[in-house]
Amino acid sequence: MNERPILVTGGAGFIGSNFVLQWIAAESASVVNLDKLTYAGNPANLAGLKDEPRHVFVRGDIADGETVVRLLERHRPRAVVNFAAESHVDRSIHGPAEFVQTNIVGTFALLEAARSYWSALPAAERGAFRFLHVSSDEIYGSLAASDPPFTETSPCAPNSPYAASKAASDHLVRSYHHTYGLPTITTNCSNNYGPHQFPEKLIPLMIVNALGRKGLPVYGDGGNVRDWLYVADHCEAVRLALARGRPGETYNIGGNAERTNLEVVHSICSILDELRPNPLVNHHSSRITHVPDRPGHDRRYAIDSAKIRGELGWRPREDFGTGLRKTVQWYLDNAEWVKGVMSGEYRSWVDLNYRNR
Ligand code: NAD
Ligand code: TYD
Repeated sequence: MNERPILVTGGAGFIGSNFVLQWIAAESASVVNLDKLTYAGNPANLAGLKDEPRHVFVRGDIADGETVVRLLERHRPRAVVNFAAESHVDRSIHGPAEFVQTNIVGTFALLEAARSYWSALPAAERGAFRFLHVSSDEIYGSLAASDPPFTETSPCAPNSPYAASKAASDHLVRSYHHTYGLPTITTNCSNNYGPHQFPEKLIPLMIVNALGRKGLPVYGDGGNVRDWLYVADHCEAVRLALARGRPGETYNIGGNAERTNLEVVHSICSILDELRPNPLVNHHSSRITHVPDRPGHDRRYAIDSAKIRGELGWRPREDFGTGLRKTVQWYLDNAEWVKGVMSGEYRSWVDLNYRNR
């Protein structure tokens, strides 16, 4: 078969690995998966593809332009889908430099490599090529309780080093479309949850802490609101945007599931009370502790997905109740995966982030 592959970056991380697995199950083209394997990249996420000839894994850095150009020339993909990033707000507060390096310099190098490859393609292939950049709702800043959700035209107002680095990458992507005509698409999604998420983020951290009979550290008053999107729904939206999205456009993707952090933690606790009661306490929720807030903590994110719903017919399949239950069940069923990621590096992070809280 002569079908061109796609190049996915960051495909060993949380969303990238879910995307690659879904892609291989649903599509016919092959995937070249470029990932640096930082602490967040985990080959175990791709174990199901061990014998899959349509998946080629390459360890490398998106900021290494020469490697990327070589990969593009060798595999001749019809698209680049960029998930590679430093993705955790708390880590960006403790060490922003890596966020500037991967999210800004790395995206720039990837764009340059893609531009050089794309501009040498025959005209028909040039038109069909796509550079899809996966970004975040955090670039829009924080909403007040009564504000309408973010649309694609909401002002860019990032508040954390992570959000600022993602916003900068979005601007670069936009400029490569406007200046060079590179057929780019940017997607800005809300908080994802589901299998393979590293337990530094709220939902998996609360699940593994509850299972480990540890405290459940809620920042500040726990009233911050996020709009939760099940990862498989996000991956479907990215596949649709890649297939039918218009070059030069951005698409917001949200789960239409706004919850306060306290609501999320209580929901996890109730599911665990049912599936894995803790004999030491009546309810897992008795382990909730309020800890000092994150500096610059955005109060509320919410996404208006009308554009991708209207133009591309996308709908999330999961609501928060069904998605959260599947997620908790996945962590219960995958104790070995959890044990594998909670290594020395994980423990150092937990010491650093929660020491003074
Ligand atoms: P993640 O941290 O789980 O995974 C990131 C992956 O990128 C890892 O596999 C890592 O090894 C790889 N990587 C990091 N630096 C790299 C580099 N320089 N070169 C190549 N690979 C590199 O992140 P995630 O949660 O899967 O997020 C994926 C994308 O989605 C990111 O761009 C993130 O900003 C965006 N996003 C995530 C969320 C969310 O809720 N997780 C929400 C909105 C947007
Ligand atoms: P997180 O999963 O880090 O995603 P983001 O900061 O990108 O939204 O955090 C989600 C929310 O949960 C955020 O408001 C911060 C809060 N939070 C806690 O209250 N306690 C924790 O231990 C963590 C990691 C997050």
